[in-house]
Amino acid sequence: MDKLLITGGKRLVGDVTISGAKNAALPILCAGLLTAGDVVLDNVPHLHDVATMLKLLGQTGLAVQQDGERVVLNGSAIDKLEAPYELVKTMRASILVLGPLLARFGEAKVSLPGGCAIGSRPVDQHIKGLQALGAEITIDAGYIYAKCKKLKGARIVTDMITVTGTENLLMAATLAEGETILENAAREPEVTDLANLLVAMGAQISGIGTDRLVIQGVPELHGASHSVISDRIEAATFLCAVAATGGDITLHNTRTDIMDAALDKLREIGLQMTIDKDTIRAQMDARPNPVTFRTTEYPGFPTDMQAQFMAVNTIANGASRVTETIFENRFMHVQEMNRLGAAIETDGNTAFIKGVDQLVGAPVMATDLRASASLVIAGLAAKGETLIDRIYHLDRGYDRMEVKLQAIGANISRIK
Ligand code: EPZ
Repeated sequence: MDKLLITGGKRLVGDVTISGAKNAALPILCAGLLTAGDVVLDNVPHLHDVATMLKLLGQTGLAVQQDGERVVLNGSAIDKLEAPYELVKTMRASILVLGPLLARFGEAKVSLPGGCAIGSRPVDQHIKGLQALGAEITIDAGYIYAKCKKLKGARIVTDMITVTGTENLLMAATLAEGETILENAAREPEVTDLANLLVAMGAQISGIGTDRLVIQGVPELHGASHSVISDRIEAATFLCAVAATGGDITLHNTRTDIMDAALDKLREIGLQMTIDKDTIRAQMDARPNPVTFRTTEYPGFPTDMQAQFMAVNTIANGASRVTETIFENRFMHVQEMNRLGAAIETDGNTAFIKGVDQLVGAPVMATDLRASASLVIAGLAAKGETLIDRIYHLDRGYDRMEVKLQAIGANISRIK
């Protein structure tokens, strides 16, 4: 199991190229199931989760060609309408094959995703929505069996805002008969990116970017080309890193128009930022200010940035409060940070952080994707050596993070 060894205290200086967004690429790859035509995708990030999704899709018979950041999909020879447990258990986003397979082929067998470190994360809203579109769904021995000759449009109101729930139902609705209205839809930029691809494939969707998506079903979708949007979470992770270590970095290939909540908090922290069309120059030469925030759905403060900002708060010049409202157990990084000398106490879904002058390196363990990123940030700021175990969590969602960090002066290496 790989580990990351970091010797902290180095300022970060130089250029970083931000990769395509994991949480846009995963649903977008599943959209390839919806057509017999070629779907040509660019800016697809090199991530473990993307590799897992391509393996899962390949098993259905979807033709997959990957060349660097380009992926070409063709769904003319799909012959296995299922997603097996051994793959689904490693990546919950596998549930995103359910809507497309059902909509185009009338049936699907998808393993129920297990829980995960950050919460139970049920998929009841995905199932409820597909049933509203006419699907017969039974759950047996850990598998979802879905059947429906032809989905019929319906008005669906999900009980809460769900990102992949919205994406699953949106993809299913594109081939349903008649009109579907998704109320309470997720407005994350990754949902918008998927919707834009579906429109390019011939889908009829209005309300894109709002919490009310209206879809007129069409008989079939054709191929299209699309470039995956830049990863706003990766960008914010690097900005938190330089906020914690001090330095002067420039991010390239960013989308600054979808990061307002994070950029506002980074300004509050004291990061000096010069923002261009797709670049952000970030300079930091002072101790961070503490920032208090609560996570909410887009356009509010993203839960996927909570751990990274908490890492900066641990060495801020004051106290802060972080409230996690999306997942019930997304503070797994707290205990690990306290091993580095942080002063964090939690009470339910709120963490109270007292900034300390200096973190001290120690062996720590990654528990989930964004927690591992926050431990990297803490390690970069800590005095001495930090050894992070179980960094397969990091590799799921970050494209060669240590290589990008080495290029801007971090003393970090991967130990096999
Ligand atoms: C997506 O997960 C992201 N993953 C997550 O990113 C992200 O943290 C999350 O949205 C919130 O923004 C992908 O896009 C692949 P939800 P998702 O459905 O869709 C509850 C990362 O770090 N819920 O929006 O699974 C659920 O338990 C990952 O990149 C139900 O109760 O999240 C949670 O409390 C982590 N029933 C809340 O809704 C359902 O049927 C929001 O979950 C669906 C969701």
